[in-house]
Amino acid sequence: MNMRFLLLLQLFSHTVAFVVLPYIQIDFAHLFRVAQCKAKCSEKYGSPKHRTMLDGTTDEYFAIDSEEYEKCEMGCLQFQHRRDMKRVNLTGATLQGAKFWVESSAHAGKVGSSPISSIELLCQMPSATPDLDDSYEGLIGLSKTRPSGPIQYVIQWKQRTYSMGKYDESNWITASVESDTMIKVDGLIPGVQYKFMSTVVGPAGKLGDTIQSEWAEIGSTLDVKIPGAPLVVKNGFTSDHGVMAHLHFPRTAYDSCNFRVQLKNGTTAITRDIRVDLTHSIILTNLEFDSSYIVNLAALSADKKIATSPISVRFNSFQCKAVYGKGSLNCAPEPVSNIRVAIQPNSTALISWTPSADPENILTYAVTYQAYIGTCNKNPTTVYLDATSDIYEMLLPVDQQCEFMFRITNYDAIGREAFAETRIAVVQDKIFSSSTSLKTPVIALIISFSILIFAILCVAICRCCTKCPVKISENKAKLTEYA
Ligand SMILES: *[C@@H]1O[C@H](CO)[C@@H](O)[C@H](O)[C@H]1NC(C)=O
Ligand SMILES: *[C@@H]1O[C@H](CO)[C@@H](O)[C@H](O)[C@H]1NC(C)=O
Ligand SMILES: *[C@@H]1O[C@H](CO)[C@@H](O)[C@H](O)[C@H]1NC(C)=O
Repeated sequence: MNMRFLLLLQLFSHTVAFVVLPYIQIDFAHLFRVAQCKAKCSEKYGSPKHRTMLDGTTDEYFAIDSEEYEKCEMGCLQFQHRRDMKRVNLTGATLQGAKFWVESSAHAGKVGSSPISSIELLCQMPSATPDLDDSYEGLIGLSKTRPSGPIQYVIQWKQRTYSMGKYDESNWITASVESDTMIKVDGLIPGVQYKFMSTVVGPAGKLGDTIQSEWAEIGSTLDVKIPGAPLVVKNGFTSDHGVMAHLHFPRTAYDSCNFRVQLKNGTTAITRDIRVDLTHSIILTNLEFDSSYIVNLAALSADKKIATSPISVRFNSFQCKAVYGKGSLNCAPEPVSNIRVAIQPNSTALISWTPSADPENILTYAVTYQAYIGTCNKNPTTVYLDATSDIYEMLLPVDQQCEFMFRITNYDAIGREAFAETRIAVVQDKIFSSSTSLKTPVIALIISFSILIFAILCVAICRCCTKCPVKISENKAKLTEYA
C-alpha cells in the first residue's frame, strides 16, 4: 500500500504515468486548477519541439523539460498547501508558479476548441512495475488535430466487470494531470474493462469538450500477446528517406506496447525495439532499390526480456526505374529482354532483343557465344556492337550438332554491366538431305542477370576476349573487323 501511495504522490508532480486505484478519489476541481497552473507554466517556460513518430512523420509537441519549468510547477504545487505558505521562500520561476496558482481557477470556463480528437488505449502488456506484477500496464494515446500548444490533460477513468448477466460499473475516477499525448497507465486488472476520459486545459481554461475512449478489456492471462497477422508492406521513395517502406502491423488495444522489428536481406539483419505510438505503421529506411527483404515482428514484454514468436513478411523494395526512369544512370543497369532467335535459309541465326535503356544511356553491347555441347569449336567469340544495336546475325556451323550459350551484355555510360543469356541448339535435321542442311534452333532457356560492376568491368571483359575495350572506337573497329 505504501508503494501505491508513493506512486500516487507522483501524480501531483510532473507525471508521465498513473496507476488506476479505485479506492482513491482525487477532487476533479482541484486537479483542473493544477492543470491550468501547469499550462500557464508551460506557456511561459516551455517551447514547441519536434519528434519523429514510428511512421516517420513529425509531431510538434510542447517540451517542458527546462529547470525553470520545474521550478514554476513547484510554485503551483507548494502554494496549494496554505499552511506552508508562510514558511516557503519563493523566488524566480517558483514565485511565478505561485502567482499562476492564484490566477488559476477550478471553475474556469470553456475558452476555445480542443486540439484533441480522440482518446484510446493503444496497447497493453503485463506490468513490469514491482508490486504491480499481477496487473497490466498500457499506453493511453490522445490524437491531435493540430499542434497542441501549452496544454495539459486531466485524465479520468472508470472500470466495469461483467458478472451474473450485467455490468458492474464504477463512477468516473479522477487520476492525473498529464502533459503528453502518450500516457502510461499501470495497475490495470486482468479481465476488467476500462474507459478513459480527457479534459483539455490551456493557460486560460478549458479547451473544447471532454472526450471519452471506447471500453477496452484487459487480457485475462498475464501473457504477452503474439502479434496478429498479417503484416503489410507499402513501398515508397521520398527525398528525405530515399528508398523506404511502411510496415503496417496489427496495433490494437489487445496487443503489446513493445515490439522487436528485424529487417533482413541476403546478408544483413538489422534489429530494433520500438514502443507503439499514435501512428499506424513503422517506417523502414536505408533500403536499397530493387532488393528483397524479410521483416520479422515479435511482441516484447514490458521489460523487453521476453519476445514472442515473430510474424513475417517478405517484400521487394521500390524499383529504381520507377523513380528515375528506365535506363537512368542513378539505377543499376538492367539486362536486355525479350531475346528472339530466327533461323534463315542461308545458315545464319538472327538474334534480336529489346534494349533495357535508351541508346544514349548505353555505352556498348558485347555479344559472346560459345559452344559447350557438340562438335563445334569451343572457343568463345565476343563481338562489340554499338549502342543503337538490337539485332545480331550469327553464322551457324554447317554439318555439325552443337549447343551454344549466347550472352548479350550491355554496358551503361559509367561502365556497369548487365547481361541476359539464351541457349541455341543446332541439330542436323534428318528429314532434309545433307545438301540443304537446315538447322533447327531450340531456345532452351533464357537466364537473365543484372550485375553491378564498376572496377571489375575490364576484368570481366578480358575474361571473354583478349583485349579490353578501353575506347569505344576500338570496339567499333572490332565490330567492323568481324562483319
Ligand atoms: C529568501 O531567499 C533569498 C535568496 O534565495 C534570500 O536572500 C532571502 O533572505 C530569503 N528570505 C527568507 C525570508 O528566508
Ligand atoms: C544487405 O544490406 C546491406 C546494407 O544495406 C548491403 O550492404 C548488402 O549489400 C545487402 N545485401 C544484399 C544481398 O542485398
Ligand atoms: C542471310 O539471309 C538474310 C535474308 O534471309 C540476309 O539478310 C543476310 O544478309 C544473309 N546473310 C549472309 C551472311 O549471307
